Amino acid sequence: MEIVTLAKRPELAEATFAIPYPANTPRFMAGNLAGLLVRCRRVFRLWPHLVVALLDDDGRPVARGVMVAYLADRDDRPAFPDLGWDQVAAWAAEDALDGLTPDTACALEIAVHPDRQGRGDSRRVLEAMREAVGAARLDALVCPVRPPDKAAVPTMPMREYVERRRPDGLPEDRWLRTHVRAGGRIEHVADCSMTIQAPLDRWRRWTGLPFDSDGPVVVEGGLAPALTSTAHNLAVYVEPNVWVSHEPA
Ligand SMILES: CC(C)(COP(=O)(O)OP(=O)(O)OC[C@H]1O[C@@H](n2cnc3c(N)ncnc32)[C@H](O)[C@@H]1OP(=O)(O)O)[C@@H](O)C(=O)NCCC(=O)NCCS
Repeated sequence: MEIVTLAKRPELAEATFAIPYPANTPRFMAGNLAGLLVRCRRVFRLWPHLVVALLDDDGRPVARGVMVAYLADRDDRPAFPDLGWDQVAAWAAEDALDGLTPDTACALEIAVHPDRQGRGDSRRVLEAMREAVGAARLDALVCPVRPPDKAAVPTMPMREYVERRRPDGLPEDRWLRTHVRAGGRIEHVADCSMTIQAPLDRWRRWTGLPFDSDGPVVVEGGLAPALTSTAHNLAVYVEPNVWVSHEPA
């Protein structure tokens, strides 16, 4: 198996971005507006050296790691912003528009083909991401990690969840655990990392739920409940993530 960046193998861009997410990924995640700023074609055009693809023995992409770059050493930008994923998507787009030279890479997504999960591929992708960041001479690699197993306990605060450990001392969450095993450092909870707001009809279409009462609603696949106001005809899902930092290789 081989790992490449799309700067080296641009002809693999389409197949790399076509690696699907698992079928149970919540539909409402597609309603995140900041994601429009970092659509795959734009990321490929701006930061092809920061998109890595793991190839199988036939040379087909089976896992991807997608990063963007921005200037962390600017204005009052905190190293690990509370607005997490959305904040970094906006900073990366803003800096690209302003023509600034970045100093930091942020992982936006790692996806392993559903047929190949559980074989340790994500670890190899993380290593390749650290190498790509080192090769780009960026100072830091940060990741607003979405711990997938948190979906089983959506009403538990992320600050409590992130402390859960197995008897061997590693995080209970499989994805946080993989980051820590790969040398990542858990830094901080991003309480408001990804926001999805929409009128109630759209939430009903996304989830099949009635959305007919006020207050928190547990939505399948969500890491936190959506918050609903029937009087205002809206619900907001604010997803907490966990900032993890890695050393560039
Ligand atoms: C999260 C993800 C990247 C992990 O990749 P992976 O290559 O399958 O992970 P690994 O094989 O390295 O396994 C890591 C750990 O998770 C466990 N694991 C893997 N699949 C699992 C599953 N379906 N259920 C529970 N645990 C699982 C493994 O047993 C391993 O545990 P260990 O630490 O005890 O050895 C992958 O599942 C994925 O692409 N998910 C969808 C996209 C996503 O959620 N990305 C992360 C947010 S951007």
